[in-house]
Amino acid sequence: MCRAGLSDPVPAAPVDTIVDMLHVTNRALHFAGFGGLDKLSLVTAQRPEPGPDQIRVRVAVAGLNPVDWQILASPALAAYFGVRPPCGYGNDFAGTVDAVGTDVTNWQVGDRVFGGARARAAADYFLAQADDPRILATPPGVSDLVAGVIDIVGRTASAVADRLRLSPDDTVLIGSAAGGVGTVLTQLAVASGARVLGSGSADSAEVIAALGAEPVRYGPDLVPDVRRLTPSGITAAADLHGVAAATAALELGAAPGRVATIEADEPPMGAVAVNGRDARPDALSELLGLVASGRLRIPVEQTYPLADYRIAIERQQQRHTRGKLALLTGGTE
Ligand SMILES: NC(=O)c1ccc[n+]([C@@H]2O[C@H](COP(=O)([O-])OP(=O)(O)OC[C@H]3O[C@@H](n4cnc5c(N)ncnc54)[C@H](OP(=O)(O)O)[C@@H]3O)[C@@H](O)[C@H]2O)c1
Repeated sequence: MCRAGLSDPVPAAPVDTIVDMLHVTNRALHFAGFGGLDKLSLVTAQRPEPGPDQIRVRVAVAGLNPVDWQILASPALAAYFGVRPPCGYGNDFAGTVDAVGTDVTNWQVGDRVFGGARARAAADYFLAQADDPRILATPPGVSDLVAGVIDIVGRTASAVADRLRLSPDDTVLIGSAAGGVGTVLTQLAVASGARVLGSGSADSAEVIAALGAEPVRYGPDLVPDVRRLTPSGITAAADLHGVAAATAALELGAAPGRVATIEADEPPMGAVAVNGRDARPDALSELLGLVASGRLRIPVEQTYPLADYRIAIERQQQRHTRGKLALLTGGTE
């Protein structure tokens, strides 16, 4: 799967043929082998041609997620996601079907699409099987910028929300409320009618409040600060960064079965590990329906040209992103 979208390097060409070549080339991030960002480069190759049962997607937006660069250094994580370098990079995307194979009947050139294309999305173009369930039609009224960053965070936030089944009777603590998953989950939690406390640094307090939650600082004073705000305790929690918020919620009285973590393989004291893979098949359609009707915002902190991928990834590696980061691609035509 990794090689889809990449093909042989374009040979050197005389200047007068470069204009022609601009119509057939594909820039793609290339993950050469395990290590760090030094193993990632932007390569230019011929634009891939779809096989009979494939579509070619012209990418407009490639959203970035921590797992993309966590995979670069972790053969175990890469294997879990079926990623084998040498291959491409990224997952989230939105764009347009710009070519279809001879046997394809379910997509047409010009269809707007979004979703997940693991180890392929960060490119001008990539190929996908026409029946790939992770390629979805972008609903009217939803921008490529939103559709192109929602795949992983949307499915994960939705899976956590389903697990917690929040109601107006709940007081929920969301650890890391201002990040990619946090901004989506916090809004879902607020919409449930629950009282929502969201943890972040002092710099994120405004963002968390704008989502409709009460900001609390993560760190050593988390438990006393939450206790001061909610003397009767916490009934549910989601920890999206380590396990400090999960541990705090258990100390503050939440039942272990209502404390979800997304970073811990072995959650503390009976808390529950939840993954994006647990999401309902219609989770993304549901979220984009909320976006289209103005009931959910997907904040994007910053966009970068594809060529500035290193600056974008290094920003995300600082772990203080508010909402999402995205690469803007758009093909070379
Ligand atoms: N299991 C799954 O299926 C799944 C799915 C998606 C993501 N994940 C993982 O979950 C994590 C979160 O993903 P994401 O996309 O939301 O990441 P993200 O956007 O990079 O998260 C950034 C947020 O983390 C917060 N943060 C930084 N240090 C913190 C601390 N010590 N305690 C609490 N919050 C802290 C930051 O808040 P401040 O700026 O205020 O410091 C920032 O808002 C990643 O490690 C990702 O790989 C797992």
